[in-house]
This record gives sequence, structure tokens and C-alpha cells, in this order.
Amino acid sequence: MRTLRDFGFGKTSMNDFIMEDFNALVAKLSQRFGQPLDVNFRLNLAILNIVWRMVGNESFDHDDPVLLKLFDSFQTSLDSRGKTSVFKLIPMRLFPKAVRWLMISSFLPFRSNIDQFLKETVKNHKATRDENFNRDFIDSYLQEMQTQSPGSVINETNLLANIRNLFAAGSETTATTLRWGLLFLIMHPQIQDRAQQELDEVVGKDRDVHLDDRGSLHYNEALIMEILRCGNIAPLSVPHSCTEDATFNGYLIPADSAIVINSVHMHRDSKYWKDPLKFDPSRFLDGKGHLRTGRIPGFVPFGIGPWGWAIVGSAFSVSVRRPWDSYSKLARKFGGIMSVSMSMSAEDIIISDYDLALEFFNREEFVPRPPLVPFLLSQKEGGHEGSGIAWSNGKTWQENRRFTLRTLRDFGFGKTSLNDFIMADLNAFVAKIDTGGQPVDLKSQLNLAILNIVWRMVGNESFDLDNPVLLKLVGAITKLVNARGKDSIMKLLALRRFPQFFAWWFGVSKSVMEIDVFLKETVKKHKLTLDENYNRDFIDSYLQEMKTQEPGSVINEGNLLACVRHLFSAGSETTATTIRWGLLFLIMFSEIQEKAQDELDQIVGKDRDVHLDDRKNLHYNEALILEILRYGNTVPLSMSHSCSQDATFQGYLIPADCSIFINAVHMHRDSKYWKDPLKFDPSRFLDGEGHLRSGRIPGFVPFGIGKRQCPGEILARMELFLFMTNLLSRFTFSSVPGKPLPDLNTTFYGVVQQPPNYKLIVTERK
Ligand code: HEM
Repeated sequence: MRTLRDFGFGKTSMNDFIMEDFNALVAKLSQRFGQPLDVNFRLNLAILNIVWRMVGNESFDHDDPVLLKLFDSFQTSLDSRGKTSVFKLIPMRLFPKAVRWLMISSFLPFRSNIDQFLKETVKNHKATRDENFNRDFIDSYLQEMQTQSPGSVINETNLLANIRNLFAAGSETTATTLRWGLLFLIMHPQIQDRAQQELDEVVGKDRDVHLDDRGSLHYNEALIMEILRCGNIAPLSVPHSCTEDATFNGYLIPADSAIVINSVHMHRDSKYWKDPLKFDPSRFLDGKGHLRTGRIPGFVPFGIGPWGWAIVGSAFSVSVRRPWDSYSKLARKFGGIMSVSMSMSAEDIIISDYDLALEFFNREEFVPRPPLVPFLLSQKEGGHEGSGIAWSNGKTWQENRRFTLRTLRDFGFGKTSLNDFIMADLNAFVAKIDTGGQPVDLKSQLNLAILNIVWRMVGNESFDLDNPVLLKLVGAITKLVNARGKDSIMKLLALRRFPQFFAWWFGVSKSVMEIDVFLKETVKKHKLTLDENYNRDFIDSYLQEMKTQEPGSVINEGNLLACVRHLFSAGSETTATTIRWGLLFLIMFSEIQEKAQDELDQIVGKDRDVHLDDRKNLHYNEALILEILRYGNTVPLSMSHSCSQDATFQGYLIPADCSIFINAVHMHRDSKYWKDPLKFDPSRFLDGEGHLRSGRIPGFVPFGIGKRQCPGEILARMELFLFMTNLLSRFTFSSVPGKPLPDLNTTFYGVVQQPPNYKLIVTERK
């Protein structure tokens, strides 16, 4: 599944692929337009060719004798399998060998034709393979075989069997469904007219229909579903079994029994379908004429269960403490995009595949935040678009994000002038560290120092790290960030419907109020002392911008408060937690700590602080920070996205108001992108010359991906660099003797994943 998805399954890039065979088919059929025509043979050839392109990277001419022979062999093999139903009359278990011989001999000759062709193809692939580029399924499989231990089930026999299965299951099925479709069209000309009318209106007559049109062609999509329902091309699905006796709902299911889904019965069950015997595509449309979303009860044309679009009907399948682990397990079964249905509430969509995420999160319709507690609270102050940056949508989000990015850049984001700013707080933090050999927990001091940096940029003030205002602010922000994680309980109980109550229960309202009291006071002071000619900080710039706005603008005081709150909450806990992860990894992997210190000693020496200007020379230390971000997974599921109305992505329906998560942990451990993903190894971010890898790094998403990617990444990377390198240059960090290292599976998760609480020993370097 993973490999086929890489080669385009479900991606609109498949469009041209399929269209090539469609056009070849039309060219052949056009010779007989206007005359009675049996499309069976040609249709099968076209569909077989599409499968073959993905599997063997070859495309046959539709008259190519190889394709014709292959088709013939598959056809005969499939037909003879049907005949084996006669064997069921014989008590198979009593004479297994005889029955097996009878069954196999009936289609063996044809299978050997296919195998001969496939073996030849695999041989050619082996001879022409390029290690760095997989052309098709066969190449990918051969490559995967190289990584396996002896006795693995990823072997050449299974490669051949897989290809045979893909051909058999992927060509006849689709072609037959299309034939049913054409038959239904001639039986119901008024339905044909209606589908054509939609095509004329939506696509027009000057271009081909494209996969991208799916989201707009509701009736045509519904027509295809109705063809699947009424055509029942796999009427009893493919039998399942169980290897040992099992019970289900109190019934004994004996080992080795054949378990069959009667999909015909389900497709005609009046419990699910009104007038089930009528051919009527509109049953798949909702009141607005849009395609029905989510799981459709009673509709099982592709079977049911673990296949493709995961529908996990119970929140109990997903760990509340470490949901990404549960999602990863499911992703290995169901693929890079899946839906997890948390009973009674909106669905969660989980994207675990980096390439899919890249396309998905760059689409405009998936920019919004879902209606969770923070959003609903911010809606109270900002109307239906919410307020601020992190929990807003639409124009409010767009304009406030744009303004914030521009203004923070003016105040030094990405400039080395920020060096002294950050160093002032680092030095204040270092002054607080106990280096007397006693075990210390640096959590709260780190949080204070990092929040102070954000506050300097936003409010042009710097607190002493013991200042009670700062302490109160950090407490409120920590509560705010951590409360978010608890809404998984809400999902379970569909409590989204009572957001105000839960905001109160989880302490979100109280934290917001505490922060706002402080912010309102600060904004008031800024207004009194504002100098038109000089903006001291973010608040001044915002107030100045407000003056240039028309009434009703989204640049207003409510959004100013929300933006600052969001910069606080998104910009402090995240960075401070990443540094805590970093220090933990240093004590766990002391040889890596030494290597980083060696580089610092060589490049910077011991007589001065590390400066932002040193970044370009400290390749290993920069790589160490990236590895901390990858391995620590500070924001494991990013922040949830949503869509305000039903949307489609690569053929999947993404229902309005669902929560969409990116499983960053899964991507950070995906062996497609990372060698030995479970090993902590900064050098994976270095190139052959020991230089930091440049450009976008596939599979690396600590700051999210797409249009809503973290706007604070540049500042965060500067903070992480100055903190980690200066700390490493001055101190050595070690674990507390006699105390076991913390268990990395006992993390705490809000939006941010906190490492388990731990103490370490800080020793000054000579
Ligand atoms: C190591 C530190 C950080 C990490 C790992 C991190 C990670 C993230 C992630 C994963 C998102 C969600 C992106 C999405 O919705 O797709 C995000 C959003 C955000 N981050 Fe960061 N972040 C960090 C530091 C910062 C800093 C320093 C600031 C600013 C001072 C900041 C401000 C924001 C804001 C305002 C958003 C919301 C963006 C929006 O909704 O458009 N972050 N961050």
C-alpha cells in the first residue's frame, strides 16, 4: 500500500497516466462508433495497462501481442477460479491434497504463462535498477528485499504473487464496474442526461475532465457509487477466515471457516436504502446536492475493515497519552491518510505521509482551525473567524499573521542583532543554575527565560527571572498549553458541544483572563507613551497599524491581545521544552555531547561566548539541534487544522469541521526518510563533507508544514542555537548517579510533548 501510494495512488498526478490509456481506448473504439459495440475486451486491456504502468513502468500499445497474451492468461485463470466453486460440494477438508491438485491444475497452465512473463520482467528490472531511483513497484520491492534478513516474507516469490494479485484484483474488477456503469446508462437515459448536464456545467466542452474536478462533480461521483451498489461486482467480497476458533458476539467462529460478506444483501437492505431496487444516484447526495461524507452505512463495495480509509469506530483504540503511537500503528495498516472516528463527534483525519502532507497543508481549504475549545473561545471575542493568529480563520488569520510576521522581522527575527537580546536572558538563566554538583531540574527557569525573550520583542520590557508577574504569566501559559491536550476526553464524549463549560473546567478561561488582565494594562501604558515616530515593540507597531485601518478592520485591539497571547503560548513552552529535550538527550548520549563540545572548542574556543554569526561554522551543533527536534517531537501532532465545508483530497472526503492532524512523530520515524530512525544521530543532518544539509529535508516537520507552518521558526532556531551551544561550551551535563534515566514513553502531552520530569548535574567546564 505504501509503495503504490508513493507511485501515485490517490494523487492527482495519476490523472495523465490514466488519461493516456483512456485516450488509447477511445481511439480504438472510435473506429466502430455508431455500430453495435462490445467494449469488454478493449476496456479490460486499458485497465490492465494502467496497473502495469505502476507495477512495471511500461506501457503497452493496446495491440501489443504481449499485452494480449497477458490479458488472455489472466482472463482464463480468473474464469477457471470461478469454476472451483464446484469443489465446495466435495468435503474439501477430507481430501485436501486431491482437491488442491484439481483446483490448481485448472488454472496452473495460465499462471505459468503469467509467471514466465513476470520473471522475465523482474530479471530485466534487476539488471537495470538504479539504487537511487525506484521506477515502479518492482524496483521498490527489490530494494526493500535488500534490507531484509534471511527468511523474510518480503522475497521474490511474494513479489511475483503480489504482482499477480494486483493484476487480478485491479484490472477485471475495475473494468467490470465500468461495464456495469455503461449498461446502467443505457438502461436509464435520464440519469445519463443528468450526469452529462453536470459535466457541461462544471467542466464545459473545451477540455477533458480532470481528477481535480472530483470535488465539484457531485452527481457524477454519486453515479459511480450507485453503479458500485447496484452492480455488486464482488457480491460476496473475498472470503476471510480465522486460524483458530474465535467468538464474536457470543457466536463460535470455527477455525478455517470461510467467512463471507453478503454485500448484495447489504446493498439492498431497506434499513439503509430507500427503494433499494431503484437505480438512483441521488441517494448518495445530501440535502445540498453534495456527495454524502464519511462512512455510508450498508455500503461495502470494497469490502469492509482494514483497507485504505481507516474508520476506527472507537476512541478507545487511540491512546490518550500518546495518540501518535496509536495513529502510527494504524498508519502502517491503512496508509498515510486515514480517518479516525471518535464516537458521536466529528472525525479526526490523520496525515502520516510526508508527501501527502506537503500537498494537503498547502491547500487553501485546509488552512482553518477546527471548532475546538480555544477556537470557540476566541470566536467569542472575534466573531466567526476567531481572533489572533493561532486560533483564527479567514481574513482575521490572514491579516494578523501577515502583520505579525512582518513586524517581528522588523524587530530582529532572523537578524544577528537579536544575539544580545537572547544572550541577556541566557546569562540570567545561567546565573540561576546550581553548579554545585547537586541534581537540578531546569524546567521552570528555562520557561521563564524563554518567555522573557518573547516579552522583550512584544512589550519591550525585561523581567527579573524572579519577578512575580513573570511567574504568574508562565503559570497561566503552561496551563493554557497543557489544557489543550485534555480535549481528547471531550472528543470521546462529544463534549465539543459545551465548549464554555469545558474551557472553564480545564482552566482555559481562567488562564486567558489572567493573561489578558496583564496585557490590557500593558497596552494601556503603551497607548499613553506611544511615539508616532518610533515603535519600541510589537504592541507599538500594532497600535500604529490600527490607526491606518477602516472601521471594522480585523487589525483591532481584541486581535492585538489575542496575537500577543498566541505569541506567548506558542513561542515559549515550545522552545523551552525543546531545550529540555535537548539536555536530556545530552545526558543520555554523552559521546554526542563530547563531539558537540569538541567542535565548539575548535571553532569558537573557550575565551568568548558563541555568537549567532558562528552558526555557519558549527555544522555538528546545528545538526544536533535538528536531531533534537526530530527525536524529541516537541509538537507531535502539530496543531489541528480543519475545513469549513466538506472537501475532497485525492478522492477522500474530508468532512467539514473535522480535526486534521499531521503525525509528525510518524514522519520523523519513517524509514523511507531516515536510516535507523530510532537512533539519536545528529550526523544524519550532515552531508558527505560534514556540512549541514541544505534546503527542505523530506520527512522533517517539527514546525508543521504548509500555509500555517510555524511563523516563529526563525526565532526558535536562533534561541535553540544560542542556548544549546553556550550551555555546552560552558558546562557538561550528566545524569544523577544511581538514578535511572527517565523512560521516554512516559511523556506528558498537551499540544506540546513534555519529556518526563528529570534532574541532571551541571558541571562547569575548565
Ligand atoms: C522549538 C520551538 C517551536 C516549535 C517546535 C513550534 C512548532 C509549531 C507548530 C508545529 C505549529 C503548528 C503549525 C500548523 O498549524 O500547521 C506552530 C504554530 C505557531 N507557532 Fe510555533 N513552534 C516553535 C516556536 C515558536 C515561536 C518562538 C513562536 C513565536 C514567538 C511561535 C509562534 C507560533 C504561532 C503564532 C503559531 C500559529 C500559526 C498559525 O496558526 O498561523 N512558535 N508552531
